[in-house]
Amino acid sequence: MARPGQLPADPQQQAAATAASPSAPDFSSFAIGFDERDRARLHELWDGVIDSQRWSEGDLTRRFEDAWAAWNELPAVAFGSWAGGALAALEYAGVKGETVLCPSNTFMATPLAAIHAGARVEFVDCNREDLCMSFEDLERKVAEHRPRAVMLVHIGGHIAFDSERIAELCRAEGIFLIEDCAHAHGADWNGRRPGSYGDAGVYSFYATKTVSAGEGGTLVSRHPELIEFARLFRNYGKPEHTVAGLNFRLSEFTAAIGLVQAERLGEIVAWKNDVAREHLDPAHPGRLQLPDGMTSGLYKYVTFDPIERSTGKVYDQPCHRIMGHQVDLPNSDWVADHHWCVPIYYRPERESLST
Ligand SMILES: Cc1ncc(COP(=O)(O)O)c(C=O)c1O
Repeated sequence: MARPGQLPADPQQQAAATAASPSAPDFSSFAIGFDERDRARLHELWDGVIDSQRWSEGDLTRRFEDAWAAWNELPAVAFGSWAGGALAALEYAGVKGETVLCPSNTFMATPLAAIHAGARVEFVDCNREDLCMSFEDLERKVAEHRPRAVMLVHIGGHIAFDSERIAELCRAEGIFLIEDCAHAHGADWNGRRPGSYGDAGVYSFYATKTVSAGEGGTLVSRHPELIEFARLFRNYGKPEHTVAGLNFRLSEFTAAIGLVQAERLGEIVAWKNDVAREHLDPAHPGRLQLPDGMTSGLYKYVTFDPIERSTGKVYDQPCHRIMGHQVDLPNSDWVADHHWCVPIYYRPERESLST
């Protein structure tokens, strides 16, 4: 983490240390996190879908959900997108006409989902250390706005450092807590996984995520009634129509990619962490520092020192600025100006070249 007054590391030194050496895997050229070893199996699964005559709401969707549930240690419902899972959770929480608190340092998907669910959105500041929601600012905003729900976003691949305290506060105040886990595949904090702190967690399987199905989402929750609600919500409430959902179904072809990716998750995350430890950490002393016992899925490798070759920022403009909210969120503004992302992409086929 950058401390005030800390000098940026020498960019040339950084570039030299970061550039892939002949023996290093080429982790810095963009690649979708797909393992070539899974290609044949994926084709087999797709053939199976074609033969099954069932291209939606079938066996592959269930197998993908089971694989995700096994990793997440929570029941899972697959969706066609993160947005579908988020809307299911927000609708279940009863946010219509109520206030939802969101961090400003997130993708516009987070506040927009709440707005589409009929809520008013108020923004909460983040911490500089983890880029995620600040417990102290949340406490103030809870007192001020009496929200129905809070959306906690795990930014960049790690778990928000204040997750436990935020969950306790929400439990004590009767506030529904939704974890936006769009970046958090593979994260772990002393054996605890994202989505297990609040009432629901929602993942994205968009094309650039640590594990991707091209498109897709998954909702996890420890509440059996929410799991049941989410299943109905994704398919227009069929067959009884007691739930006013829409079409957020996942195609069986996409579920097949989700399945092979979910089964590869541990390996992808271990590979990225090995690369980070060996090739990036020595060159980036100003990187985001994780607490003991936390593993990041390394969707992003965040540093607070300017770097020569960056994939950009996680977000370069906080949502309260984009939406023109007149609220003072100094850490969200600071984070937007003071962090960069070092490229790190899963390219296992090049690993055989490394020593
Ligand atoms: C924090 C966050 N939430 C939600 C989403 C939306 O996910 P999707 O595009 O799968 O709907 C994203 C997408 O990148 C994201 O970064």
